[in-house]
Amino acid sequence: MEKIFQLNSEQATEVLAKQLAQLVFQPCIIFLQGDLGAGKTTFVRYFIKSLNFQGFIKSPTYTLVETYELSQMTIYHYDLYRLKTAAELELIGIRDYFIKPAVHFIEWPEKGLQFLPNPDIIIQLAWLADHSRKIVMTANSALGTVLLTKIAEK
Ligand SMILES: Nc1ncnc2c1ncn2[C@@H]1O[C@H](COP(=O)(O)OP(=O)(O)OP(=O)(O)O)[C@@H](O)[C@H]1O
Ligand SMILES: [Mg+2]
Repeated sequence: MEKIFQLNSEQATEVLAKQLAQLVFQPCIIFLQGDLGAGKTTFVRYFIKSLNFQGFIKSPTYTLVETYELSQMTIYHYDLYRLKTAAELELIGIRDYFIKPAVHFIEWPEKGLQFLPNPDIIIQLAWLADHSRKIVMTANSALGTVLLTKIAEK
């Protein structure tokens, strides 16, 4: 199952991220794909903010993963862009991150596919114009299908 959105402003991205945040429950794995600057981190930021997180949400570009312990859920936000080999994921103990229930957002999953579990949802972002993005959400599990069914196409 697939849903397609054209988001003509950052605010539209915010609305969609918030919608997903209201529906999601752990464990859930979400891949984010798209070019540099497509809006992957921006989407995750709005998702986390909508759950009333007050702190600064930084891009995990250098740290590989940032953790958010929220009252509703634990969120792991990864950016694998800087991985040199997929095996580095083993070295940082990636397996341990998937033991307890959490919501995982993984940017650049293609850099570490062999060490990652299958995603429930794949979000592909593409640049259309300065403030306009196309988002394709694909369900890749029963949970993913349930979630996508509930997201309103706007
Ligand atoms: N509709 C929109 N949705 C999302 N981001 C938008 C939108 N319009 C403009 N932007 C801007 O596009 C940029 C997206 O940057 P972001 O860091 O989220 O990209 P990214 O996909 O995470 O890139 P990287 O692969 O480098 O991590 C931000 O500066 C954001 O403000
Ligand atoms: Mg990013």
